Amino acid sequence: MRRVITYGTYDVLHYGHINLLKRAKMFGDYLIVSLSTDEFNMLKNKKSYYNYEQRKFILEACRYVDLVIPENNWEQKIGDIKKYQADVFVMGDDWEGKFDFLKKYCEVIYLPRTKNVSSTLTKAYLSNL
Ligand code: CTP
Repeated sequence: MRRVITYGTYDVLHYGHINLLKRAKMFGDYLIVSLSTDEFNMLKNKKSYYNYEQRKFILEACRYVDLVIPENNWEQKIGDIKKYQADVFVMGDDWEGKFDFLKKYCEVIYLPRTKNVSSTLTKAYLSNL
């Protein structure tokens, strides 16, 4: 069993997210999403439209996702990789190079982001309706 892990806020889930999750899952058989908690988002000066439980509920309904765990801080990645025996760490290429220090523990892959879509754009559009 090859396990893949990825991180993010996944607010107002959009096709760019699904495109990332679909490609991430192709690197293994089991996909773990470490989902930013509301408290961690506050620390990052991010405010999600849906709360943690709602974002988790939505992600769990996605066919590519096998497990959703909480992301509470920046430092937990090495511990998660060991605990969940992740073989591959995947992120969008907006994070290119930022997580190369994890190469000591597993494969690190950055995937191209889907163009012209983001949670920020979706929320901006909806708030202007
Ligand atoms: N992602 C992607 N393509 C997009 C948007 C996001 O591949 N158009 C990827 C990110 O690179 C990340 C994951 O989806 O690996 C979760 O990203 P997240 O930050 O939650 O989504 P964004 O839409 O980028 O959110 P925001 O606008 O708040 O930055």
